[in-house]
Amino acid sequence: MVGVAGVLLVVLAASFTFVYASTGSQLRSQIDRSIHDSALQLRSAIVQRRARSAISVLASAQSYAHSQPYRDSSVLLFVVVPGLGSTSNHPELFGSTREDHEPEQARTQERAQGRLLERPASGYSTRQAPDTGPLRVFETSFRVDGHLAYVGAGEPLATIDHAQEVVRHSFEVAGAAGLVLALLAAYLVGSRVAAPIRRSADVAARIDAGDLTPRIHLPATASSELQVMAEALNHMLDRLAAAFAAQREFIADASHELRTPLTVLRGQIEVMSGGDRADGSLSAAELERVRRLMEAELARLTRLVDDLLVLAQSERADFLHPTPFRLDELVTELWDGLSLIAERDFQIGPLEPLTLSADPDRLAQALRNLARNAIAHTEAPNGLVRIEVSRRGPSTVRITVRDDGPGIPRELRGRVFERFYRTDEARTRRSGGAGLGLAIVRAVAEAHHGSVRVLDEPGRGAALAIDLPL
Ligand SMILES: Nc1ncnc2c1ncn2[C@@H]1O[C@H](COP(=O)(O)OP(=O)(O)O)[C@@H](O)[C@H]1O
Ligand SMILES: [Mg+2]
Repeated sequence: MVGVAGVLLVVLAASFTFVYASTGSQLRSQIDRSIHDSALQLRSAIVQRRARSAISVLASAQSYAHSQPYRDSSVLLFVVVPGLGSTSNHPELFGSTREDHEPEQARTQERAQGRLLERPASGYSTRQAPDTGPLRVFETSFRVDGHLAYVGAGEPLATIDHAQEVVRHSFEVAGAAGLVLALLAAYLVGSRVAAPIRRSADVAARIDAGDLTPRIHLPATASSELQVMAEALNHMLDRLAAAFAAQREFIADASHELRTPLTVLRGQIEVMSGGDRADGSLSAAELERVRRLMEAELARLTRLVDDLLVLAQSERADFLHPTPFRLDELVTELWDGLSLIAERDFQIGPLEPLTLSADPDRLAQALRNLARNAIAHTEAPNGLVRIEVSRRGPSTVRITVRDDGPGIPRELRGRVFERFYRTDEARTRRSGGAGLGLAIVRAVAEAHHGSVRVLDEPGRGAALAIDLPL
C-alpha cells in the first residue's frame, strides 16, 4: 500500500514537473514568436505606407496602432523615434492620455513604464511594468529620413503564470483523486490476493499446533495457481496424516505383541515363587515345564524384536549388501537345513543353475519365512513344502514356495503382506509369529527392486512367488 502510494506520488511529481516546465517554455516561445511577428508586421505596415519623414512614420504607426488596440489582443505595439516622440496602442504606458478616473499614482507608474520603453534597444528583453507585471518585449529598428526608428511589440508574461497555475491546480485535483482511487484499488486487489494465502497460513499454524486434520479450502474464484498450490498442500497433508497414523498403529501393534510374551513370562515367575511342594519350592517336573514355557516365550520375544529390527533397517539405504552368488546352491542348502528342524515332504522343483547378484543373507531370511509358513500350515510328516526356481523372461527370476495346506483365501491375499497382519485362524493359535514374516519377505523383495505375490493357482495349497530382477 505504502509502496503503491509512493510510486504514484513519484510518477505524479515527475509528470507534473515535466508538464509545468514544458507549459512554461512552450508559452514563452509562443509569446516570443507572437511579439516578433507583431513587431515585424508593424514595421512592414509602416514601410508599405511609404512614409517619407519621421513625423509621417509616427502618424502611420498611430493609425495602425489604433486598428489593433491593446485591450483586444493584449499585444502592446509601439513605435519610438528618439528625439521626435512615440506612439503606442496602449497610450497610458506612454503617458500621452489623461484619464482622470485613474488615481494619480497609477498614472505616474504607467508613465514611468512609458519612459522605460522610450529608451529603445534591439531584440528580446523582459521589463517590469506595474500594470501588467513583467513584460516580454521585442524591438527592431529601421532607418527613415535619416532617423533611426524603433518598432516594438510586448506581451505580459502573466499569461504564463496563469496557465501554469491552471496546470498546477489540475494536477492537485487529479493527483488527489488518482491517489485515493489507486490506494482503494491496491487495497481491494491486495486483500483478494492475500486472502487465500492468509487462509493457508492459518492452516499451517493449526498444523504446527499438532492437528493434521485441517485442509485448505479456497473459493472457486481463486486463481488456478493458488488452487494447484492448495491441492498440493492438501495432498501432502493427507500423506503426512496417513504416515503418522501408520506409524502410531505400528507402535501400538508392536507394543501389544511385546506385551503378550512379557505377561506370560511374569506369570511363570509367579508360578515359580508359588511352588507346589509343601516347603514352597517347585517339583523337578514342574520346574522343567516352567523352564520350557519361559524358553519358548523368550524365543518368541527374541524373534519379534529381531523382526522389528529388520523392518526398521529395511527403510535404510544400507539394508542390503549385495554380492553375486549361486541361487541354486543357496536354495539347496536352505532346504537341506529345513529337513533337520521339521518333518515334511521337502521338495526342490526345477532348479536352474543361476548366478544372482543380491544379498544372500536377506534372501535366505525371506525364503526361510516362506518355508516356516508352509511348515506351519501343513501336517507332519507328509505335508508338501516345495521350492522352485524358474526364469520369467530374460531379466527376471521367480522363486516359488508352495505347500498343500489350506491355502490363503483369495480376499486376504492382498493383506497378508501387511505388518502384524494375521488371518483369524492364525490369531487364535498361539504358535506362529506376530504377522511380520510376510512383511519382511515383501521388504526384502522390494529392496531388491522385486516383488512378492500369492499365486492364483487351481488346487489345494498356497503358492507364494518372489520375482527378482537378474
Ligand atoms: N502358506 C500359507 N498357507 C496359509 N496361510 C498362510 C501361509 N503363509 C501365510 N499365511 C497367512 O498369512 C498371515 C501372515 O503371515 P506372516 O506374515 O508370516 O505372519 P505369521 O507371523 O502369522 O506367520 C498369517 O496369518 C498366515 O495365516
Ligand atoms: Mg510367518
